[in-house]
Order: sequence, then structure tokens, then C-alpha cells
Amino acid sequence: MSEPREIESLSEAEARDELDHLQTALTAADLAYHQNDAPEITDAAYDAMKRRYLQLENAFPELRTADSLAGKVGAPAADGFAKIRHEVPMLSLGKAYSEADVVEFVERAKRFFERDKGLELVFTAEPKIDGLSASLRYENGVFVRGATRGDGTVGEDITENLRTIADIPKHLKGKGWPQTIEIRGEVYMTYAEFQALKARSAAAGGQDYVNPRNTAAGSLRQKDASITASRKLRFFAYAWGATSEDPAPTQFDAVQKFADWGFAVSPLMVRATTVDALVAQYREIEAQRSSLGYDIDGVVYKLDRLDLQRRWGFVTGEPRWAIAHKFPAEQATTVLRQIDIQVGRTGTLAPVGRLDPVTVGGVTVVNVTLHNEDYIKGFDSFGVPIRDGVDIRLGDTVVIQRAGDVIPQIVRVVIEKRPASAVPYEFPTTCPVCGSPAVREVNEKTGKEDARRRCTGELICAAQAVEQLKHFVARGAMDIEGLGAENIELFFEKGLLKSSVDIFRLHAKRDAVQQALHDRREAQALVRETASGTKRKKVLAAQDRTYEGLDKLFANIDARREPELDRFILALGIRHVGETIGALFARTFSTIEAFRAAGIAGELPSIHGIGETVGSAVLGFFANERNVAALDDLLTEVHPKPYLVTVSATSEVAGKTVVFTGSLERMSRTEAKAMAERHGARVAGSISASTDILVAGPGAGSKLKKAEELGLQVLTEDEWFELVSK
Ligand code: IVH
Repeated sequence: MSEPREIESLSEAEARDELDHLQTALTAADLAYHQNDAPEITDAAYDAMKRRYLQLENAFPELRTADSLAGKVGAPAADGFAKIRHEVPMLSLGKAYSEADVVEFVERAKRFFERDKGLELVFTAEPKIDGLSASLRYENGVFVRGATRGDGTVGEDITENLRTIADIPKHLKGKGWPQTIEIRGEVYMTYAEFQALKARSAAAGGQDYVNPRNTAAGSLRQKDASITASRKLRFFAYAWGATSEDPAPTQFDAVQKFADWGFAVSPLMVRATTVDALVAQYREIEAQRSSLGYDIDGVVYKLDRLDLQRRWGFVTGEPRWAIAHKFPAEQATTVLRQIDIQVGRTGTLAPVGRLDPVTVGGVTVVNVTLHNEDYIKGFDSFGVPIRDGVDIRLGDTVVIQRAGDVIPQIVRVVIEKRPASAVPYEFPTTCPVCGSPAVREVNEKTGKEDARRRCTGELICAAQAVEQLKHFVARGAMDIEGLGAENIELFFEKGLLKSSVDIFRLHAKRDAVQQALHDRREAQALVRETASGTKRKKVLAAQDRTYEGLDKLFANIDARREPELDRFILALGIRHVGETIGALFARTFSTIEAFRAAGIAGELPSIHGIGETVGSAVLGFFANERNVAALDDLLTEVHPKPYLVTVSATSEVAGKTVVFTGSLERMSRTEAKAMAERHGARVAGSISASTDILVAGPGAGSKLKKAEELGLQVLTEDEWFELVSK
């Protein structure tokens, strides 16, 4: 991860690129977290990325696209369970990280209601449970259906699994409940249950469980509800969705009602009217945190009166009237044993610190990012001292923290514990992989040295070559199914792939490919055999499928010989050319030949959205003969489709303004947009008087309503396809 740059200093193209990257990373993280129940990054890292994304979008509103993540929560519902549309979306919460943020929240409320003379604003404060939210529908007091949050609009039907949770009443107790109500709250697992499950699993040689939250998520989405039942999940009720009438006039009383109806509710909820009182409850809950027996990650403040909540309303995906005050990142002390240098696709040398394993907030940490040479020396990228200017040395005792970054950070060096023999770390000036000089480039605009060293070996550097290959086949690029990072590494290591063009000649090396896959299977089988004694047969059986898989792999490769031009340009791996810029070039040049010619001539026309950084990266790419030779070689095997912007005069949608909403099932948003544009339509992000057509997929909400109010043409995805394929 590079240091985030000041937003003000970014050009539009740079912002666009960063937004693209963040969007990809956040989407991947959402999927890992919500669908696969295996977070790849910490919550704090996720929050930091999301914050940066929103800041960038705010600073560059013209870059906001129809598929903006603003207001999106979670990931689309996973396959396997029936989908349930939430009549009232399941929202996310805004975050407060400091007392100042809480002051601001309360001030915002005061400003909003300042005309209501004499109105005393009352808030509730309650723990933020670190589990996963669920929505439970009761009709006439009977539990009829339950769903996960999913993407906030469409969740999964997990009714049977929820029925196994003792805290969830199957019939509401007492009386006075609304005829229909969706009770919302958090499913979680206690530490005790988590430990017990871990112990049972270890005894049976089963899988390891990372943390209670993910285990709860995994348990809840078992196809076999008896497994869920065995996991003893718990539930706290704290909110509601669609309902035939308000459960009570206030948040506090509503939750008391839930308790009367038989739900477990948090005993730590209080009412408070001042920032001081809210923060006092935050401290109180924080003090009890370690003895609660389950994970909480902050305190939620909510405006108490529902009528006032309604008046204050919502921003994208979040209520204005509530905020989550997060607990600070957790820290731990350990020792730095080694520094490894990783070389990225564009040659950046990234130092990674290897630590004695240590647990921080329930997760074992062994790596920290050390960013770059200056960071290790004790300076940020502006030359300002960090960690009081103390450098980082091998053998140092360090305080690490999981917060705001993809992998943990070193916050402090415990200088008193520095071994007498420790010497300043010497950052390599040659590439550890290919031996080429590694230099710090000087930014032409600022005259400043880049904080990061870069290997100058380009494609002779094995590390850059293999990373470029991974980039080439990746999702947003050539998207070759079955050729993931693992296989790329294997084939590269075996000398079967050196550059992208070799992928399209791989079938000629069929036997060697088969052998490589076979050898890996064998090696894996051996490892597992030693580990568990029994898996070998299974692994070898899987191998037979590999041989069939090989035909499929070659077929997948062949299927991508005529890629879309924008994907192809992205796949080339030119620095600073992400998805959006790739598409911009595709649209501008229409053919790869035209793009190549302009690049070689060293003359890019001025294109709206392409700044100096991108421009010089592209020219730099074409100025390198080896790149041009590699491209030409590649073009003997791959024939990118011309990017058609010429509008078919007959298209019914030409000249119309189209808005997409809800989830699309036949293509991605990006693709849908490109397709509409190819047919001469303009794609907008929101409904206005100038909108002609709304294409509404499942889960469409407010846009659909507005379109109907305005009497616009509303089409399903299928109808839209029919229209554009006429
Ligand atoms: S209220 C309209 N209260 O936090 C607001 N959420 O970041 C709905 N959560 O999706 C949420 N404890 O999964 C609320 N006491 C609490 C909560 C809580 C945990 C979770 C919930 C929500 C997420 C939002």
C-alpha cells in the first residue's frame, strides 16, 4: 500500500484511478466478508478505505458513477439461499472515532432542530455488537421468515437456521405487537461457545475457526440447519424494518417492548441528553467490554424519538439520526525479526516486516507493512518525522496496531528495548529479485523524489513479469477463468509462461502443463497426508478432474482471444491506467491499432479526464521498444474488438438518457453502461426530469418510486436487452 496522497494534490485522472482501485478492493473485501465469511482485511482497514473513497468522490463529484459504492452496504446475497427483498433497506451506520466526532454529531442534530424552540434532544447509547445483522418477520406474532442483510436491499432467506436460535422467539410473548413487524438485530457467538467449538473441532481434526464473528456468519449460513443448531448462536434485538405500526414512540421504549415480546436485548442501553453523558456511557461500556463474553466494537448513539428520526432522515445508506462510536484500534507489543522486500507489478519495492506472532483483537498478526525507505527511517512522504523520528531496526520491540490500514502498522518503537547490536536498516538499492538497480524516481512536477524505490528491470524482472501476468488475466482485465494467481505462479516457475502472449500458446505445451499441475497436486497431497493422514485419496481423485479442467482452461483462454478493447488496454498493465482510464482510451481510439499508433508517435490527443501523469505513463510505455515488441507479438494471438461508439441509427435508445438501478443479473454495471453508450444512450446516475428510461433490477428502491412518479418508461433487465438487441 502506498501512502495516501493529499486529495487536493490529485489530478482528476489520479483520483479516478484511485477510486477505481478502491472500488475494486472494497468490492472484493465486501465479498470476502459477507459471502465467504472470511475477512481479508481488518474492519479498520475497510473503514479507512471506504472513508478515502467517499472523500475522493466528494472532492471529485464528476467522477461519481452509477455504480458508486456510496450508500452500498455489504455484498450481494450469495447463491444457494433464496433471496429476500428487504422492504425497508438494512442500513449501515456513520462512524465516530473521537469525542470530537460525537460533539459534531450532537451539534448537527441541534442545528437541524434549532427552530424547534425548547425541544430537548434525547439520545440512546447502546453497545454495537460485532456479529451479523438479521431481519425477522413476524405476522400476527408468529415468526414467518428471516433474512441476512445481504447488500442491504436483498438478503438471503435463512429462516430455518434462525429458527434454531434460542433467543429468537417463534411466537411473540405478551400482546400489543403490530400485526406485521420485522425485528432486526445482531446474531453473534459468545467467546465461550467459540472456544468450545474450536476445542471440539481440534479434537476431531476439523477446521480452525478465526474469530467468533466469522464463525457466527458461517454457522448461520449452513445449508443444514442442524449444524447451525449445534453452534448455539445468540441474538440481540435493537431495531426494526417494515412494520404495520411503530412499536413505540421512541427507540428506547421500542427495545423495551422487544424484551416484553420475548427477545434478548442489551442491558447496557441508556438514554442521555448531552455529549458528556453519551461519552460517559461509552466509557462505561468500554470498561465492561472484556467481561461481556462477546465481541462489541463500539457504542451506537441514536436519536430517541422516532418522529424526530423520520424528520432528520437519511444520507446514502446511513441514517443521519444514528452514529457508531468505535472503540480505538487494539495494540500489542512484539519483535521485528526480518524485513522482506516484495516487488510489485510496476517494480515498486515494498518492505514487509516479519514479526514474532502476536494476537491483536483476536487475530494473530505476523506481518506489518513498512511502506518504504523513508518510513523505516522515521519520516513520512513529506519528510515530516513519524514515530518521533525513530527508525525501525531488525530486533526492535515494536507496538503494532490494527487500524486504518490493510495490514497492521507499527505505531511505536520501544527504544529502551533496542538491542545494542541493532544497526540502521539499509534499504536495498538493487532489486532483490532480478538484481537491476532500484531507483527513486523524481517527480517532474514537484521535483521531489518518490518515497518508493522501483526496480528498473521491467519485464526482465521475474517479480514484475509474474505480477503483470496475474494482472493480465485478472477479473477486470482479460478475465481468463481457471487461470488464477496460483496457476500463473506455477506456470511461470516451470518456465511455461514468460509473458502474456505465452498464455495463448500454452496449449502447445499441454503435456508440460499437465505435469506441472500433477506435480503440484502430488505435493499438496503429501503435505495433507502428513498433516491429517487421510486426504490423499480425495486429492488424487480431484486430479482426474484436473485433466478435464485442462481442456476447459484452454477453451477459456481461446474464448478470450477477442477481448473488449477497454479490458485489453487495462490488461497491458500501463502504469496509472486503471479500468476507467482504459475505457476512456478505448472510447477515444476505438481500435488497438489507433491507440498503438498514437502512443508510438508520442502524441496523445488531449482527452478529457486524462492528465499529465497518465499521459506520460502511456508515452513512456510506448517509448520502450520491448513493450512495443511484446504488444505486437501479443496482437498476433489476440484481436481486441473495435470499441464501437458509432451509434446504430436504428437503435431505439439512441439519444435517450438511461438510469440503471437495482441489481443487474445479466451483466455488470460497467458493462451495462458501455452497452447503453454503444447504442447512443447517455447513462445517468440519478433520476431527473431529463431521464427517459429506468432499467430496474431486483431490489430497486427509491429510484423506481421516483421514476414511477414521473411516469418514466421503466424496463426490466430482460426488456432492456430486447430493446437494445432489436
Ligand atoms: S442500528 C438504521 N444498533 O452495525 C440503523 N446496529 O454499522 C440500523 N449493529 O448493520 C443499525 N449493534 O449489523 C444498530 N446496537 C446496534 C447495533 C448495530 C450492531 C450493526 C448492525 C448494522 C451495523 C451498522
